[in-house]
Amino acid sequence: PGREARAAPGLDFTPIRPSTADAVVVPDGYRQDVVIRWGDPVLPGAPQFDPDAQTPEAQAAQFGYNNDFCALLPLSGHLDLMVNNHEYTSEEFLFRGYDPAHPTEQQVRIAWAAHGMSVVVLDRRGAPRPVPHRLNRRITLHTEFEVRGPAAGSDLLKTPADPTGTRVLGTMNNCSGGVTPWGTVLSGEENFHFYFAGADRITDPETTRRLGRYGIRGGASDRGWERFDSRWDLARQPNEPNRFGWVVEVDPYDPGSTPVKHTALGRLKHEGATVRIADDGRVVAYTGDDERFEYLYRFVSDGRVKRGGSRHARRHNMALLDSGTLSVARFTGDSPPAELDGSGTLPADGEFDGTGEWIPLAHGDVSFVPGMSAEEVHVFTRLAADAVGATRMDRPEDVQPHPRTGRVYCALTNNRRRGPAEVDEANPRAANKHGQVLELDDDHTGTAFRWNLLLVCGDPNDPSTYFGGFDKSQVSPISCPDNLAFDRHGNLWITTDGNALGANDGLYAVPLDGPQRGRVMQFLSVPRGAEACGPVIADDLVLVSAQHPGEVDGADADHPASHWPDGGNSLPRPAVVAVRRR
Ligand code: FEO
Ligand code: CA
Ligand code: CA
Ligand code: CA
Repeated sequence: PGREARAAPGLDFTPIRPSTADAVVVPDGYRQDVVIRWGDPVLPGAPQFDPDAQTPEAQAAQFGYNNDFCALLPLSGHLDLMVNNHEYTSEEFLFRGYDPAHPTEQQVRIAWAAHGMSVVVLDRRGAPRPVPHRLNRRITLHTEFEVRGPAAGSDLLKTPADPTGTRVLGTMNNCSGGVTPWGTVLSGEENFHFYFAGADRITDPETTRRLGRYGIRGGASDRGWERFDSRWDLARQPNEPNRFGWVVEVDPYDPGSTPVKHTALGRLKHEGATVRIADDGRVVAYTGDDERFEYLYRFVSDGRVKRGGSRHARRHNMALLDSGTLSVARFTGDSPPAELDGSGTLPADGEFDGTGEWIPLAHGDVSFVPGMSAEEVHVFTRLAADAVGATRMDRPEDVQPHPRTGRVYCALTNNRRRGPAEVDEANPRAANKHGQVLELDDDHTGTAFRWNLLLVCGDPNDPSTYFGGFDKSQVSPISCPDNLAFDRHGNLWITTDGNALGANDGLYAVPLDGPQRGRVMQFLSVPRGAEACGPVIADDLVLVSAQHPGEVDGADADHPASHWPDGGNSLPRPAVVAVRRR
């Protein structure tokens, strides 16, 4: 048929239409299966899910809440390892009759156990399904992490529970991530600021300024955790938030390993981190700080990767993120600022594009930021980036190097607060509801790069949108790009979070080269209120996380807005879905 003849390699499906259904929707000829849901057993002895009889012990052995990033790593034969982030909890969706003014200790402990990550062995024969295995693991807010890199042991990280500043219990707000070439998983600690109480009782103005730069203000926290553990109370433990906001690394092949928090990659609201090996063997990690007007960062290691999978090589590679240079991006457009009016109209040269520069912030113990020590640069990285004049972006989400071309793609998800006088060529729309996708030509270790916008998202009928120069009458509408992945053919896949076009979020594919560059095709839609994330695009399988189904205004566990995936009158359950060709 004609459409197949025109399809880019790997994309011979008929795009679905935008959906508002409370269902996962896939193209004709594909089937879907739920792989694992919140509450499904992960560890031996875990009980089956029963939301009305939930306990912290059960939750710590079951799949956590709000699965976001998803990674698939080879194990042996028909078995693969799946690694998932559990970003956050929304207690009103976890507990029937939840009273936010009076959370119970049991509810709080369940929430601690519902955060973190999961490692689950999947049997890939037929529909992928979790199997009991010695590598299955849950990481929660009680799992011990080792702090490594230039800020390990810093006074800024010490607490009564950890006078060494090198051991942290737990990880949280793990949003996106990446798989390293040495077979570990990186995961970004993102919106940790919601969890701390008592900023209003801090009397030191410098501490208040630092907390405020990360959005930590006010009295009680939303979740009230400070009532049950003083680590969440800043008046008693002002350094505890400094122990979150890192990129963490987990070795899923060793269930007894201590996961690591990497201070060399800076402390911010990391969406995730992804790695590329430079031509000279150094390891380059890209990471975005997902908040309005925040920055894009790059880390280049001092050491070089050792090839081969020996235990020695692996140990060597797992230390590469401990020392290197952390930089932040500054973008310069090549069109006159007068041609940027905030409407998204293309400038006269026909492209939003230009040059850029990586501005170094610190290298090990050496700071390049006047007035800040290297330790301060690594712990209060946002303040360091402010000081060097980095470009304030429209919420950097995934930043990912293309496995073949090495070009780097960055999803800038949206920024409704950008004013008309604040636009620049990389962030060209005021009140940006739909976001854009940035393409960087970076040699990975130098300081200069070139860039252009691949997509300016939204309704293709909206003149402020741009689809790589492709005919806009033939593309799917797309809004709020978040996570990125690549298939074997080199196509870019994009999930969305917060679709502002009136339909559910979804998964989209777009060719990057050849005559179909910019032709966005919607592959999948997630249920009502859900965000699509963590896509894995394998040859025979697509995995997608449907995070927070049913999370719409006014809904809660007593008034569900979604009954996906169990149907009937059930609570919605965040889950991973597998899509395969029929
Ligand atoms: Fe958790 Fe940046 O999305
Ligand atoms: Ca231009
Ligand atoms: Ca995200
Ligand atoms: Ca997001």
